[in-house]
Parts: sequence; structure tokens; C-alpha cells
Amino acid sequence: CGIIGYIGDRKACEVIVKGLKRLEYRGYDSVGVVTADGDRVEVRKGAGRIDELTEKLGFLEMEGNRGIGHTRWATHGVPNDINAHPHTDCTGKIAVVHNGIIENFAELREELLKKGHVFTSDTDTEVIAHLIEEELKSANGFEEALRGALKKLKGSFALGIIYADEPDRIYVVRNESPLVLGIGEGENFAASDVPAFLEYTNKAVFLDDGEYAILTRDSYVVKKLDTGEVVEKPVHEIEWTLEMAEKAGYPHFMLKEIYEQPRAIRDAIHGNKEVISRVAGEIANYEKMIFVAMGTSYHAALAGKYLFQRLAKKIPIVEEASEFRYEFEDLVDKDTLVIAITQSGETADTLAAMKLAKAKGAKVLAIVNVVGSMATRIADLTIYTHAGPEIGVAATKTYTTQLTVLTMLAIELAKVLGTASEEYLKELENELEKVPGLVEEVLKHDAAIRELAENLTDRRDFFYIGRGIGVPTALEGALKLKEISYIHAEGLSAGELKHGPLALLEEGVPVIAIAPNGKTFDKMVSNIEEARARGAFTITLSDRKEAETFSDVLIEMPSLDELLTPIIYVVPLQLLAYHLAVLRGNDPDKPRNLAKSVTVE
Ligand code: G6P
Repeated sequence: CGIIGYIGDRKACEVIVKGLKRLEYRGYDSVGVVTADGDRVEVRKGAGRIDELTEKLGFLEMEGNRGIGHTRWATHGVPNDINAHPHTDCTGKIAVVHNGIIENFAELREELLKKGHVFTSDTDTEVIAHLIEEELKSANGFEEALRGALKKLKGSFALGIIYADEPDRIYVVRNESPLVLGIGEGENFAASDVPAFLEYTNKAVFLDDGEYAILTRDSYVVKKLDTGEVVEKPVHEIEWTLEMAEKAGYPHFMLKEIYEQPRAIRDAIHGNKEVISRVAGEIANYEKMIFVAMGTSYHAALAGKYLFQRLAKKIPIVEEASEFRYEFEDLVDKDTLVIAITQSGETADTLAAMKLAKAKGAKVLAIVNVVGSMATRIADLTIYTHAGPEIGVAATKTYTTQLTVLTMLAIELAKVLGTASEEYLKELENELEKVPGLVEEVLKHDAAIRELAENLTDRRDFFYIGRGIGVPTALEGALKLKEISYIHAEGLSAGELKHGPLALLEEGVPVIAIAPNGKTFDKMVSNIEEARARGAFTITLSDRKEAETFSDVLIEMPSLDELLTPIIYVVPLQLLAYHLAVLRGNDPDKPRNLAKSVTVE
């Protein structure tokens, strides 16, 4: 999850350990360092905390003036000593650290095994070291071998690479995973994030996707991966304080994580295709399906229910995990599938529900963000959301990646069961690929949403309404607002409005309507009108321009299939909650009374 590379006159290990500490805030489970002294390469690594491992493995005794350090946040293979990076090839001369996901690693590994390569870990990363080793047999030098290997990789990656036989350089690569160079005098740095080197230099060169760099003591060159052509890059003077740099210049982790969603969703799609189609095959025939989850994950489960209904023609039940154990004890059996959704994989209520389900013989599928967490150990099957560590207490990117995974699962189920036309499913898949780009579009409303928030800071109640698959979005929008702005909010299905909550509406009460084009649009219009007639201040999220005529504010959304709307419609609601929290003087990253992961029932 964090990379720091160094080449210069200092002891590399010292720069690396300090740099890793600076990246600690990103979360990690294992740590590793490679240094090279002449053509002698040494790797030390293990699962655990930086301080503890520095002591135990003696990172600070490692020799050499060039090296790379890595903190790992597991994606393939549980967190343990062997899976920690760096990974090496058979000769031990090529050492690689990696952030991101190699989508086609299973295939590549298979091919390399046939060619006699021996693997020691379960990671996708190790494949890269062996692939370069293989290319080196026929390539004209290491750089060519590296390029040859990288062309075969699919997925998102940032890499740091050391080759023993080239004593004067280190390599770094960027493709859809952050990487930045730090330019010093007589020394150079590379890191996944500026704080890792900010104390030595504030001159930074940000690599773009599909670029790699070769660093020596007193030079650096950036080239294109596909052609090898040199790219001239601007040098930025970073004026951030260390604290700002940790958040990549964003004032809070929550905002940073909101902005990371396009990348996270892309990883959720690309890291999961194979797994999800396999899981779909295994679960398709269950008639009894029960989703269990809490908080934001519960809202993802509700969206999952709609997706399963519409695409796979299943009728799942969604239950809060804390309720499940009392109500379902006698109803769960070996013919039941329980789908637990939990970003942390450690929520006590959800774990208790999973354990009960297992004890009754049910099949348990977990949809989880944290690799190796308790939920993954209880479950029979696991799908990872690949959102990366989420530090803000209020879930954002973990939610949209849960939705992404559930959408993919519903599509695969429909394929297995033949419950939707192949053509339509293909269309949906194509549209899903476009969602990261659409989230980027939606993020452009940020400034306008902040302005809107400025006018709403004194409101005491908010209502969020939606229909069909828009209901979970309404609930999640209200939850975000409650959690961090401490304003009372209710999310409900728009149909319910007139059966009670309408009595609470008075002049100026904000009513936020989720109204994408689709089969519920017309009914939503009537509900918005109902609210308006009582003086409500209506904010509509829609791709139908005419919504302007019956809304005080229209947040214009991109058009896409209704089933995909949850992923993008929640984004303005996250931003609204965030800005209201900040404007009201709250710290959105650490809301009062709440914890990121609630490990008590
Ligand atoms: C806590 C967090 C929520 C989260 C819920 C479930 O209450 O504050 O943001 O949605 O736990 O967490 P999980 O890790 O199981 O998704």
C-alpha cells in the first residue's frame, strides 16, 4: 500500500524506514525492505508493525545506498511473512514491490510454472519478478525485459524494482496506482505518496499512467511503457505541510476517499471478474438467500436485493446482522445462502450472524474490504471489494465498491440462470466499465454542492426520498448526514412520505430526491411536488433536465441504466454531508460517538 525508494549517498535503510513511518497512516499489515550494496541484494520482510519489525528484523542494519521499502495491505494472499513484499525471482537478483492488483496473475503464474519457475508466495506480485526474469532471457538488457514483462500485465499497479546487476539505479512504474518521484541533489526518491520523502526534498514529479522512471543518484528519466519514448515532465514544488501531504492535499481523509472512488471502483471491477463468475456458479442454485450487514454495508445489501431481484429473479431477504440471530435461528439450514457484507470484516454483529449461519450448516459468502479479516476466515467464499484502506469513519469508497461487486455478482447470476438476455447483460457490463468515468463527472459538482451546503447549515431536519433501487441511496445519504454533520436526517421510500413523515414538513425543510430516469421517475415527480406544496426546499438528483421545473435545486446526473445509479447517485450525497460537517465545525474523519469498526454487539 505504501512504496518508498531511495538512491543516493545516505544509508538507504534509514531513509526507507523513516519514509515507511510517514506512510503508516495509510494502513498496512506487513512491511518489507530491499537494499542493494553493489550487486548484493538483501530482502527483509514480515507481517506486523514497522517499529516492531525494524527491531526484530534489523531493517536499520541493512547495507547499501539504494533500496526500496513497502508496506503491504493485502489484496491477494493473507497477511503473513511470506506474502510481505519485496518478492524476488528464482535468481534472487530481481526484487519487486507492488501496490495494486494484477488482474491476469493466475494465467501468468500458470505459464511461468510450466516454464519451471518456483513460487514461494500466494501474491500476484511475485509473478512480476518471475516474468521479468523470463523476459531477460531473450531481451536486450534489463530495461527491455522490464518493458516486455509490463506489457503482459493487466490491472492496476505501482511498482518499485531493483536489479542486482545494475548497481547504479532503481526502477519505478505507474499504471493506475499512484507514484511520485522526489528530486534531490545527488539523491533521488520515489514513493506512492509525497510525505514519504517530503523532509528531504519538496521537488516532485508525478508519473502518469503507463509511465516508468529510472532513477540514479543524480538523474532521473521518465519514459512511456509502450514505446520507451522519453517524456518531459514538469517538476512541482510542493508547498504542503506533512499533515496536508498525508491527505494528498485534501483537508480530510473523507474527502480524499470520496475522490478516490473512480480508482477504487475500477479496481473492484478489474480485480474481481474471475472470482465473481466462479462464486456466481457456486451460489446460483440457492433459493433461500439472506443478506446480513450493518450500517452503510446494510444499505449496500439493500441495493444488492434489488439487483438480485431484477437480474437474477431471486427474492432475497435483507436483515440487519444484529437482528438476524434472533429471527432466523430456526429458519437457516444447509439450503440457505447467507451473504455477509462488511468492509472491515470485523463488525461483531455481522460476525455473530455469520457464525450462527455456519453453525446451522448454511453456505456463507462474505463481501469484504480487509483481506484476511475475521469475516473472510468464517466465510466459505469471499469476494474482496479492493477499495484500499479507508481511514475516514464514514464509509464512502468501501460503499461504492460494495455496490460494484454486487452489481457484477447479480449480472453473473443472471448469466448462469439465464434470467436476463445476454445482450442486455453485455450492455450493463459495458456501462459498468464507464462508471468510474461517470463518478469523475459527478465529482465536478463539488463546488456547487459546497455552495448549496452553505445555505443549509442551520436546517434541523433533512429528508431523503427514493423509489426502487433509489431507496438504499436515500437511506445512505441520510446516514452520511447524521454521522458527520449531526443533523437529524431520515431516508425513506418516497411512497411512505405521505403516510406520516409529511406531517414533519414545513417551510424550508430540505427534501432530497433520488430521481433517475426509469420506471419510478413519474411517481418521484409526484412525491417531490407533494413535498414542495408543503414548503419543502427540494433538491433533486436526476438525469432528466425537466426536473429543474419542479425542484429548487437540480443536481444534474449522467444518464445510465437505473440499476447502476446507486453507485453514482450517492456521490453528491457524500459531498453534501461532508461540506455540511465541515461548515458546522465538525471533524468529518472522526465523528463523535462512532467507531470505524464496531467490535462489540
Ligand atoms: C460502523 C461504521 C459504519 C459501518 C458499520 C459497518 O458503524 O461507523 O460506517 O458502515 O460499522 O461496518 P462494516 O465494517 O461491517 O462494513
